[in-house]
Amino acid sequence: MRGWMGKFKALFLLSSLALILSGCGKENLTALVPKGYGAESSFNLIILTTAVMSLVFLAVVIVFVIVLLRYRKKKGQEDFIPKQVEGNQTLETVWTVIPIILVIIMAVPTVIATFDLADTSEASEHINIDVTGNQYWWHFDYQDEDFQTSQDMYIPAGEKVYLNMLASDVQHAFWVPSISGKMDVNTDNVNTMYIEAYEEGVYWGKCAELCGPSHSLMDFKVIVVSPEEYEQWVADMQSVDPDEEPQDAVAQDGKALFEENSCMGCHAIGEGPDQPVGPGLTNFGDRTKIAGFLEPTKENLIDWIMDPESIKPGNKMTGKYPDLSEDEADKIAEYLMQLQPSDVTPESAGGLK
Ligand code: CUA
Repeated sequence: MRGWMGKFKALFLLSSLALILSGCGKENLTALVPKGYGAESSFNLIILTTAVMSLVFLAVVIVFVIVLLRYRKKKGQEDFIPKQVEGNQTLETVWTVIPIILVIIMAVPTVIATFDLADTSEASEHINIDVTGNQYWWHFDYQDEDFQTSQDMYIPAGEKVYLNMLASDVQHAFWVPSISGKMDVNTDNVNTMYIEAYEEGVYWGKCAELCGPSHSLMDFKVIVVSPEEYEQWVADMQSVDPDEEPQDAVAQDGKALFEENSCMGCHAIGEGPDQPVGPGLTNFGDRTKIAGFLEPTKENLIDWIMDPESIKPGNKMTGKYPDLSEDEADKIAEYLMQLQPSDVTPESAGGLK
């Protein structure tokens, strides 16, 4: 019976482990396949500390096993008292000095990397983006380029991008595991960091601080495109005319409904405030996700518009506008899905994987 239980326990442990590890498979959502400067710097520290700790573990196990085998009580020596070594100065020195050396080996590179990643002295020579964390979405204000976007942050490959981060409501944390380290986004002080992505791609970003019932749905993406595509995207975003009428009648009705139901009060299309109430929708038709985590289909958008609370509990859109019929929601969705001001999209970076 005991053997059977043991085997069952081992099987349970192994299968749980396999299940947990299977969640680590996304190559654009893992700190273990670094694709940016901050992530690489962190990864090197992970390897260093893991190596040092493994070494310590191995040394302890080896000494433990040797002592266990060599100094166990032998037959005929039941009354034997071994030599007492407490207060041995050499031993005390050795096991004090070795840990100090190990801590120094881990601490020096960690402190250097921490200061390096926090160094914003060259910020004025590079792209600066003001990032605002909100329950439960991200706002990106491109300072010098004078436009805003949300949820999908576009940056050029191989260039430093400086982020100035503040929260509008509660504390959040900004983390793009493949590209950068993690940074708290506070309500009362601006935290700064820089990120640099090595290659084009669409990378997952996560809010890494429990911030409310939909914290786990507060995803965003970093779209890394070539420098030329980035220039193109910026120019396209800057030249959006929010008053431009859509081509077809359904979308035109949608635009009218969008205005009538005061959606504009929170959602800017084109130039908007630096810290808006809701996500800017200038290039909504190119979003990788709807509400941060739903597939970007019209059906999902209609569901979201009609009943946001059931999709993202605690969001601030619920109850801010009159109930809409499915037909009205359909028209608004059609209008929003057509907001595609640029040929540079997540697909330009290889699409979301
Ligand atoms: Cu924002 Cu968790």
